[in-house]
Amino acid sequence: MATDASSRLLEAVGIRVPIIQAPMAGVSSPAMAAAVSNGGGLGSLGVGAMTADKARDTIHAFRQLSSGPLNVNLFVHRPAHADAAKEAAWLARLAPAFERFGAKPPQALTEIYTSFLVDDAMLAMLVAERPAVVSVHFGVPRPDQVKALHDAGIFLMGSATTLREAQALEAAGIDAVVAQGYEAGGHRGVFDPDADDSALGTFALTRLLVKHIGVPVIASGGIMDGAGIAAVLKLGAAAAQLGTAFVGTDESLADAGYRKALASDAAHATVMTRAVSGRPARSLASLFTRLGTDVQDADVPDYPIAYDAGKALNAAARAAGESGYGAHWAGQGAPMARTMSAGALLQTLIEEWRAAS
Ligand SMILES: Cc1cc2nc3c(=O)[nH]c(=O)nc-3n(C[C@H](O)[C@H](O)[C@H](O)COP(=O)(O)O)c2cc1C
Repeated sequence: MATDASSRLLEAVGIRVPIIQAPMAGVSSPAMAAAVSNGGGLGSLGVGAMTADKARDTIHAFRQLSSGPLNVNLFVHRPAHADAAKEAAWLARLAPAFERFGAKPPQALTEIYTSFLVDDAMLAMLVAERPAVVSVHFGVPRPDQVKALHDAGIFLMGSATTLREAQALEAAGIDAVVAQGYEAGGHRGVFDPDADDSALGTFALTRLLVKHIGVPVIASGGIMDGAGIAAVLKLGAAAAQLGTAFVGTDESLADAGYRKALASDAAHATVMTRAVSGRPARSLASLFTRLGTDVQDADVPDYPIAYDAGKALNAAARAAGESGYGAHWAGQGAPMARTMSAGALLQTLIEEWRAAS
């Protein structure tokens, strides 16, 4: 059952159960988020790789399906530092993989999307649309962004992988912190991808943040069922945020190759790699993670410049019928992912959580 910490968060955000469907750029959809919000949880849209116009359309598509609360998620990475020599060397390194599919690497790479830190059109759109929640990954928004979003009545959340990152979010006025453990699928929320990574697991990180910060803590990473949700609430988390659990649902944008990989042995061996995008991210074992095994961090261009190459390689491979170069993000709990509708999964999670509480 809901704890005091969780009751406060549920009231602030306007949800009935302490379950958040993680924002997942490229995977979460308006239909997925609507199914979760309509079922009493918090549905999320990952719009970090979209323009403001596309993000607005996506929010409107959600609102056609639900009048419930919505979490809109942005990336606040430091804008990419271009390095032509490093990028050329990276493309040369990937060239044999392109050649396998009768393709050539692109001539040059670009920063394929903009950090929210420098995207004022996105801020204006959010202030106008007023989703219940805005969340950020990879850092702290600018003070004027925090103020504008708060002034619009929006609740703010941010991901942290360490106590120090959580304290920075709290000091910036963020209303709740997502404790993202090393088990988690997708990009690590680390603020500085070049600093040493303490790789804290969800269990230790959640307890550390619950003890040392004053805002609600949302546990994330490796939570796949109601027993996991009950466990993190016992640790003092106000809610659980689940990503990988929703990747195989009917409403997910994951393509057939990704779904097949999730259901395969690859799910038993997830890998942290920065070769796909330029930032560390946990993926199902794949041809791309194998390519990344002997890569030094310093050889990979900045995020998201490297992602431009990764997406081009995936397109070339897919055109030749090979799906092993997709960004198949998944957490350590991947073998427990279920295939059903997002609404049915939420109901199952609620029943399992109540039974385990
Ligand atoms: C496919 C996928 C995409 C993700 N994309 C985002 C994103 O756009 N923004 C974000 O804050 N977190 C993203 N994450 C991380 C989740 O917010 C969350 O930390 C993670 O899914 C929790 O671990 P789990 O996958 O084991 O449940 C993504 C995770 C996955 C699996």
